[in-house]
Amino acid sequence: MCGIVGYIGQDNALDYLINSLRVLEYRGYDSSGVAIYSPDGHIKIIKAKGKLNNLIELTARNPQKGKIGIGHTRWATQGIPSDINAHPHASSDSEVAIVHNGIINNFHELKEELIKNFKITFASDTDSEVIAHLLGLELKAGFSLKNSMLNIINKIKGSYALAAISKNDPNTIILTCHDAPIVIGIGKEKDLFCASDSAALLQYTDQIIRLKDRQVAELKLNGEYLVFDGKTQKQITPQIQVLNADPVSLDKAGYKHFLLKEINEQPAIIRKLLAHHVKDNLKIEFAELKPELLKDINRILICGCGTAFYAGMIGKLALETLAKIPVEIEFASELLAREILVDEKTLIIAISQSGETADTLLAVKTALKKGAKLLAITNRSDSTLSALAEGGNILIQAGIEVSVAATKSFTAQMLCLYLLAINLAEIHNSLPSEKLNWLKNELRYLPQIMEQTLARSETYREKILPYAQQKAFVFLGRNFNYPIALEGALKFKELTYIQTTGYAAGEMKHGPIATIDETTPTLSILLPGSTYHKTLHNCIEAKTRGAPSLGVIDDLDKSARQELDTVFEVPALPFSEEYKEFQDFFSPFISVLPLQLIAYYLAEHLGKDVDQPRNLAKSVTVE
Ligand code: AGP
Repeated sequence: MCGIVGYIGQDNALDYLINSLRVLEYRGYDSSGVAIYSPDGHIKIIKAKGKLNNLIELTARNPQKGKIGIGHTRWATQGIPSDINAHPHASSDSEVAIVHNGIINNFHELKEELIKNFKITFASDTDSEVIAHLLGLELKAGFSLKNSMLNIINKIKGSYALAAISKNDPNTIILTCHDAPIVIGIGKEKDLFCASDSAALLQYTDQIIRLKDRQVAELKLNGEYLVFDGKTQKQITPQIQVLNADPVSLDKAGYKHFLLKEINEQPAIIRKLLAHHVKDNLKIEFAELKPELLKDINRILICGCGTAFYAGMIGKLALETLAKIPVEIEFASELLAREILVDEKTLIIAISQSGETADTLLAVKTALKKGAKLLAITNRSDSTLSALAEGGNILIQAGIEVSVAATKSFTAQMLCLYLLAINLAEIHNSLPSEKLNWLKNELRYLPQIMEQTLARSETYREKILPYAQQKAFVFLGRNFNYPIALEGALKFKELTYIQTTGYAAGEMKHGPIATIDETTPTLSILLPGSTYHKTLHNCIEAKTRGAPSLGVIDDLDKSARQELDTVFEVPALPFSEEYKEFQDFFSPFISVLPLQLIAYYLAEHLGKDVDQPRNLAKSVTVE
């Protein structure tokens, strides 16, 4: 998704802009650019399609001095990726330059009015350019940059995070936002920064101000930062937050890609989360979760997108199995498509790694307006979602996830949901305490079993490469491993670009099996549990129709091993006859690992852009 950065201070702006844009690359983009207020009194815009290195080459040939600048990485929504559609955009008289994240819903009307009534000539096909021209007209009418911004936010509809600089107010950067994040960074020596993702600020400061919807901020060269309410236009005192995230480490710690590094970080993250939330007396604690939030609820609705949604599907199973509370789950985008039926007894559990996904935020805001309680499971304490859920946060503490494909955030989200399920079961006395204590102790084995599984990476790699030329795959699972089949299929398709479909294994005979022949390998998750034999039958049904059969099995498996062409073996989870009902309860933490790895290795083998797959963004901040 698009990224915004800005710098105003005593140093050369360009270096800060490029360094900050470098950090935001992980979010996915197709072009980039900077605008710098030059000492000669003009605004210099340099921008280029493609990777950030293209922009760096241009700025190296044409180094721009200047203490004030804004920058942007663009993920195209309106207008193809091109030099001219890249941001920043300027007004016709080059008086003002802007960078924009989001979508201006009424840009057609605005553009027509600007062309018809003001004879404006547009340079690009973007919606964002209308903002530059609207600001230019306000400035021409004699308004300051701040008042110009306050005026135009009443005209534009949709989502926006905006930064602007102007020859008219040469010592200022103006910011505003609505349904898209922008953060101010307070640096040393009166330096001020802004960014759409605080990850870009961590190298310079941990003091941030998260601009609220429709506020307007002025960053001044003298180090002043002024924030105004967009409605009353009155100045307000902003709240300064201290960031506790680690700086995004741009080195890959010896791994070839961030994705492989993050896959291998998972056991340590699970170990850290368990230590953080499960005390020595096995009491579960959520420091940022007010206990009253979990009381007096008669319904739970989980929402999220993509991988976060699939973590939610497993969370639903854990919550219903342990807390015996009915749990519904819905894609955030589908929730937005209809009236969301919630009330003050509904607990919305919103899951989002970035905490900035537009669909999830909009669904949450709608539910909050109807009185629902919000519990957020996110990786970013500085995110919009975390702010909306104040007093109702469970932070997954996975460290910033750089690779677009979510992996470590997925297992961390699952663990937090399992701990929540146990906690709710204790609150509601829905299971005997000895069972819950057994479960808490079993969780402690997970990191080492995950490590043992990851140690088999090379074997998984060798086994998947023979399938590199396949044009389609079908992933199958049941119960706790049905969402893993969906998540594994998502990893596969988003990394290798191969058509890969995940199904509930029991659904195959109700239609999907028509797609099966020798060109469609199936991959089944066949770990011990209540659904093992049925899933094996589904796998064999596909095999008898010619499909190559792959499967995730454990080391002790004897049956599936006879039937499958290729097996990805994982260590057997500890088994207890007394607690047999939980036999596949923990399997998702293990079964997902070979699926993450085979997606990675096949994508790498096929020469795909592993950390920034085509068309994808790390955080989809537009609907
Ligand atoms: C997962 O690999 C994808 N990157 C994508 O599905 C992602 O999970 C989804 O966009 C939700 O992102 P979020 O967790 O930041 O809300």
